[in-house]
Amino acid sequence: MNQQLKLFDHLTHRANLHSSRYGWLRLTPAYSVHLVKTVLDDVRLQPDSVVLDPFCGTGTTALVCAEQGIACDTIDINPFLVWLTKAKTQVYDPDDIRGLLEASQAIVEMVKTTRVLTPVWIPPLHQIEKWWSAEIVHILGFVMRMICDMEQSLDTRILDLLKIAFCRTMITHSNASFNHQSMSFKKTANYSPFFNPRDDVIITWEAAIHDLAQAARTTIARPPRTFVGDARQLSTLLTAHYYACVITSPPYPNRMSYIRELRPYMYWLRYLSDGRQAGELDWQAIGGTWGAATSHVSKWVPPHQLSIPHPLFSTILERIAERSDTLTRYVHKYFYDMAKHIEELFIVTAPGGSVHYIIGNSKFYDVLVPAEEILAALFEASGFTNIAIKPIRKRTSKKELYEYIVSAIKP
Ligand SMILES: C[S@@+](CC[C@H](N)C(=O)[O-])C[C@H]1O[C@@H](n2cnc3c(N)ncnc32)[C@H](O)[C@@H]1O
Repeated sequence: MNQQLKLFDHLTHRANLHSSRYGWLRLTPAYSVHLVKTVLDDVRLQPDSVVLDPFCGTGTTALVCAEQGIACDTIDINPFLVWLTKAKTQVYDPDDIRGLLEASQAIVEMVKTTRVLTPVWIPPLHQIEKWWSAEIVHILGFVMRMICDMEQSLDTRILDLLKIAFCRTMITHSNASFNHQSMSFKKTANYSPFFNPRDDVIITWEAAIHDLAQAARTTIARPPRTFVGDARQLSTLLTAHYYACVITSPPYPNRMSYIRELRPYMYWLRYLSDGRQAGELDWQAIGGTWGAATSHVSKWVPPHQLSIPHPLFSTILERIAERSDTLTRYVHKYFYDMAKHIEELFIVTAPGGSVHYIIGNSKFYDVLVPAEEILAALFEASGFTNIAIKPIRKRTSKKELYEYIVSAIKP
């Protein structure tokens, strides 16, 4: 099976990198565009069918639908990701592209010719000096100041593109490297005396603007509707309950926190102003563990009696409890939240509609958490039928960790 699953590596976010708008920002929550297309090819939608992605992330489902002219609603708890999805899936006309190139040129000229680059504002990111050298922070702060100064005169669509170019430039020049579960800082390079950081930043910026302008010209047949909201409250958030197909990937129960990787973007674009806020936002997210979220999890008890209908669930919790009380609560809360989500999902899915969830299992100490099986059991308990679990690929070099697609039908 391992050999076979390796072949499906094109079904990961890496497959999005070279494809137009999909690669505007390379963030690890993303799954593969091919995966979404494969599901859409299989489900045969009617012309008036609407697709839902309740865990939008970087908007892969929404963008595939937008390009194919399929109506799609998408939701995420994180407002930065909803903004990014909206920017990736909107229609840009030739005036927008012209406006982008002109604004970019004005920024480049100012960065080149201003003697001392004074930013008006530097994000209050903890230990910012580990992320960027002081010189780079000043250049970035100056560019962001110029973008903010243009807010009154430019159309939002142009500003969105400038902000994405900023994000790409900012992350390219950061010292951070993101691995699967941890983040580390590269050593600051020793530059030659001839190295000019302004020129270096400008090169990255211009490359980003070039890519964005190219991809923004591509056709969007039908932009999605985007919502900031909670997937555990779908029936109140979405007024129409008619989704013919749901294609999504919820967080996995693996303690990975999206906020961790998204922090630099969210601070620079002012979605976050301190660490407490980051922790509170992650506490709202299913499976969140960043900052205050972990201390909340360590005190969490299920607010209502809600049994998780998998025969091994209590045994799994008991075995994890032998090693860590917090992890036990984390796993319990994760599936409790997913149970709430799936109850709501059942309400908003149209009769005959299909749901397709990409999920990874996990392992804590020596205890395997079969997330795909538990998810399937939750679908069944909520009333879904025709439940199928298919492995997609092996996830890491760690034994027994796989990604699955779990599908079901609302009768
Ligand atoms: C695995 S990612 C989705 C990735 C997406 N398929 C893509 O291609 O980018 C899971 C997403 O769920 C979001 N999320 C977590 N808890 C949520 C909640 N309660 N309601 C809505 N979205 C939530 C996270 O912010 C994250 O963006």
